[in-house]
Amino acid sequence: MTEINDLEQALVLAAADADSRNYEGSFEESEETNVLCKEPAFYKNVNEVKNIVIEKPATINNRPQENAPLKRKRETVEENIEAKSTKTYANVVANHYNQIEEKGLDERCKSRIVHLRNFHNWIKSMLINEYLTKIKYSKKQHNAPIRVHDMCCGKGGDLLKWKKGGITHLICSDIASVSLEQCKARYKDMKNRSGRDRGPPLYTIEFIAGDCGRMRLREKYSDPSMKLDLVSCQFAFHYSFESLPQAECMFRNAAECLQPGGYFIGTMPDAYDLVARAKRNDSNSFGNNVFQVSIDFDINKPPLFGSKYNFHLDGVVDCPEFLVYFPMFVKLAKKFGLKLVKAEKFYDYFEKMREEGRHLLNNMRSLEAYPPPENSTLVGTEPDDYNHAVEFIRKDPRGNIRIGTLSKSEWEASSLYTTFVFEKVKNTWNTDGTPLYDI
Ligand SMILES: C[S@@+](CC[C@H](N)C(=O)[O-])C[C@H]1O[C@@H](n2cnc3c(N)ncnc32)[C@H](O)[C@@H]1O
Repeated sequence: MTEINDLEQALVLAAADADSRNYEGSFEESEETNVLCKEPAFYKNVNEVKNIVIEKPATINNRPQENAPLKRKRETVEENIEAKSTKTYANVVANHYNQIEEKGLDERCKSRIVHLRNFHNWIKSMLINEYLTKIKYSKKQHNAPIRVHDMCCGKGGDLLKWKKGGITHLICSDIASVSLEQCKARYKDMKNRSGRDRGPPLYTIEFIAGDCGRMRLREKYSDPSMKLDLVSCQFAFHYSFESLPQAECMFRNAAECLQPGGYFIGTMPDAYDLVARAKRNDSNSFGNNVFQVSIDFDINKPPLFGSKYNFHLDGVVDCPEFLVYFPMFVKLAKKFGLKLVKAEKFYDYFEKMREEGRHLLNNMRSLEAYPPPENSTLVGTEPDDYNHAVEFIRKDPRGNIRIGTLSKSEWEASSLYTTFVFEKVKNTWNTDGTPLYDI
């Protein structure tokens, strides 16, 4: 059990490190009129800490034991798992999502976080497209079928992305039955419209309503022997970190039907950032006028599972979530044959993909124009929401340019998130019939 103690301690150390960083930042340069402006570099500092921990967990674990009093006892962690596994927050989460009203495009455009939402949609589009492209290239046969599971699909916000990606079959699962009904309606609508265009036929679909942290989804598939190429879990895996059994069940569902070489991709909040920001604020809550986080666990001793916090995001999310300690996430994934390919903070992923995805960024209105065009107002209302943009333009030799950016409040929310990618590894068999993965 020292391993779990050490893992946990690493989180505390990482948070402490992040806390002691200098948050002053510089600004990125760009050359076009429609340049993309990023936020102050202080998030990067937090990311660096995260990367050190992910890439060199052993170094962190071997640190001097100055934080020894923070160590947790094995019994405490296991007691937590035991207690939480009988009564879960999954229904609270389901009720929350079921009650979110379906808003029309007009209404969504008026939202304070319209650009943040579009930006996150852009991140998902790029990630999905990146891995669907790899999958297509790896197929020997032209037009070979591509089967995908959109785990915790919600209202089907990614249905169009799957269409654009040219997949053949989609499984949609979610605990929130109302959301799943909306997803079905969206698909039906797409199907009706696609019957009228001349493109390739729309993918087929099946829906599974239920708790992905509690039930074995494979048994519900129309064909339980189906081999999947991609499993996507966007903004949802962290709900399962309420307990070890729930997290393991989610991983089993993500991994067991993926074929070797297939990918498990997703997005979720970054634990290091959450804890570091609480520590920096010297409080269990932090946020701004766009999002608020209030933490229900001891930030100096977060348990590996059941570290609950409440996340409020401008009318979109307001429900309990759970801290995902990344080394534990990777360790559990391994057990199910999933090898970490990469994990990148949204900020870094944006940096990497912004040129390739520039056209889509514009099309999806993922960034806000600054200064605002005539007759439009900025969404940010805080006095310092656009200081970074003003500074960027001031330093630009071309003078009065217009740039694309997010308000500081939105960057602060977005930079909490990370992408992750795992690859399913081919297995051999143990003498007792259990699969062995060389990871
Ligand atoms: C933030 S929404 C994301 C929805 C969708 N993936 C997207 O990106 O638009 C999180 C979704 O996870 C679902 N969810 C949370 N816990 C779940 C669980 N245990 N089993 C299945 N779905 C779950 C919620 O009902 C909700 O639809």
